[in-house]
Amino acid sequence: MIPDAYLAAMSVDDSEAMWRRVLTAGPNTASVFVAANGVDVVGFACGNMLDEPKHGLDAELTAIYLQRPFQRSGTGRRLVAAVLDAQRAHGATGLLTWVIAGNKGARAFYEHLGAELLIEQPFQWDGIDLVEAGYGWRDLDALALATSAACRASMISNRQFRRQQ
Ligand SMILES: CC(C)(COP(=O)(O)OP(=O)(O)OC[C@H]1O[C@@H](n2cnc3c(N)ncnc32)[C@H](O)[C@@H]1OP(=O)(O)O)[C@@H](O)C(=O)NCCC(=O)NCCS
Repeated sequence: MIPDAYLAAMSVDDSEAMWRRVLTAGPNTASVFVAANGVDVVGFACGNMLDEPKHGLDAELTAIYLQRPFQRSGTGRRLVAAVLDAQRAHGATGLLTWVIAGNKGARAFYEHLGAELLIEQPFQWDGIDLVEAGYGWRDLDALALATSAACRASMISNRQFRRQQ
């Protein structure tokens, strides 16, 4: 979905600097969680409150990623549950997320968690033309329920890397 040349040009140093900025920012309403396998970080998820609600939703699941060997073990649901709890503590009443339209696995994941497809639209990412799908949860109790089964099933623990109030 993302051209290989773009991925190859991504820089570890730039990413590290970006995450340092995110994780050391002053008080805010963002949350970042990691999934850990022993001492190894194998995935992460983050969320924040939106300045202005979009599609009637006031918070966003901004990213979620797990290394391939750790996918399909319930960890994604646990990460969503962690972001959900954190953003609710910041006052969230709904949750929005965006996915590249061709990412069938992630779309199936969000739909499995009861997300409503809100929109599909073209967008540009660093000059690359893509199509994105917006999914939303208006009933956060229902989302909490959908994620809770995984908390009993998953074998991988996730830890809060840093949560800023
Ligand atoms: C999408 C992602 C976060 C889901 O996390 P996960 O731990 O793999 O998902 P879970 O094990 O919690 O899956 C919960 C349910 O969602 C559905 N699901 C998850 N991934 C799926 C896939 N690839 N295809 C179809 N259904 C899927 C299934 O119903 C699954 O339940 P089951 O395994 O009992 O059938 C993870 O697969 C991932 O990081 N993918 C690569 C990065 C990515 O696409 N991120 C999203 C960018 S928007």
